[in-house]
Amino acid sequence: MSIGRDIQGKIYRAGVFGHRPVVPVEPAALEAAAHEVMSPQAWAYVNGGAGQQRTVAANAEAFGRHRIVPRMFVDVQERDLSVDLFGRTLPSPLLLAPIGVLEMAHPEAEHAVARAARALGTPMVISTQGSVPMEDTARALGETPRLYQLYWSRDDEVVRSFVRRAEAIGSDAIVVTLDTHLLGWRTRDLDLGYLPFARAEGIAQYTSDPHFRSLAQAREPSTEPTPRPTLAAVRALLSMARHYPGSTWANLRSPHPRAAVETFLDVFSRSDLTWADVARLREMTTLPILVKGIQHPADARLALEHGLDGIVVSNHGGRQVDNAIGALDALPAVVAEVGGRVPVLFDSGVRSGADAFVALALGASAVLLGRPWVYGLALAGEDGVRAVVEHVLAELDLTMGLVGAGSVGEITRDLLQS
Ligand code: GLV
Repeated sequence: MSIGRDIQGKIYRAGVFGHRPVVPVEPAALEAAAHEVMSPQAWAYVNGGAGQQRTVAANAEAFGRHRIVPRMFVDVQERDLSVDLFGRTLPSPLLLAPIGVLEMAHPEAEHAVARAARALGTPMVISTQGSVPMEDTARALGETPRLYQLYWSRDDEVVRSFVRRAEAIGSDAIVVTLDTHLLGWRTRDLDLGYLPFARAEGIAQYTSDPHFRSLAQAREPSTEPTPRPTLAAVRALLSMARHYPGSTWANLRSPHPRAAVETFLDVFSRSDLTWADVARLREMTTLPILVKGIQHPADARLALEHGLDGIVVSNHGGRQVDNAIGALDALPAVVAEVGGRVPVLFDSGVRSGADAFVALALGASAVLLGRPWVYGLALAGEDGVRAVVEHVLAELDLTMGLVGAGSVGEITRDLLQS
């Protein structure tokens, strides 16, 4: 049975007995349901983008410029969603995009997400701004593939330590995010005066890191009062402590939580890196290195020239530069520049299986799903993430069948009218 028919069948059969999906299937309904249950701060942070939200809109609109043109009388009884990436065969071309501060959406944060990923064999890209130390997330993932998303800290020893830890947890690759060396002008967060990291949320990779902890300990304790944690943060920590003793205790145990926060704010980002610095990262690891945030074909060429192993075309879900090019609009030129020499992954704007199909048809090797699974997490924890991913995969499978593509390799540009 294909995943498309399987999921359809389950939903329709349950419907006969009066059950509707707890996690809405229609993307706009999913978003609306998550809005209902998330705090205003969590909603602003997760759903919001930069400035006037024009890039968020452009990401969605870009999909409307490509129409799928189905083919008929093709034997698609068996459909193969698998793809080969970084030496593995993955069950589908879908990965979970790195998203930080998941405690804002659900107290089980990465624990719930990793269990859902494991249930489906869907690789997870673990965030540097995680709510849970990467080692705990890795344990919950079991054998499921994981990649590690890196923010290149101001302190190279923090970077080295993160990379070492990412290797130790069995990451398939390091994904360096290039588009967030500064935080974008996030109007909704600014209007709420809300930055999770400033409240010690989403800094668990740091507070669990031996090198970072020594930096924080060396810092003079701040005389500023520790701000009141949000209700969501308290709930998250209590729940973690109950379910996963030892996991996020780093946050609670820290003798000077303000020192940890201030140290984080000091080391989080730097804007002086250039392509020449890739060599330094290369010396730190033998893992494949991908660069995330590429939108200009000239940067794709530079990535190849500097020996990078893959590219993620992304505008960070429209969170960084307002009025930027829709990520999907940037994809074809990057794919053309790369010419198949390294994988080109895609994120920013994917809301459905049909969206994933379009990105694959434009040449993406795989697609990262972002906000929708956070909405599922907010609505129903592990089950919610799982449901959202299943819905996207089901639609991708059915779209492939209905369009006449029996495998991901058969999702080609000639199936689009652009
Ligand atoms: C960090 O990655 C953010 O987008 O807030």
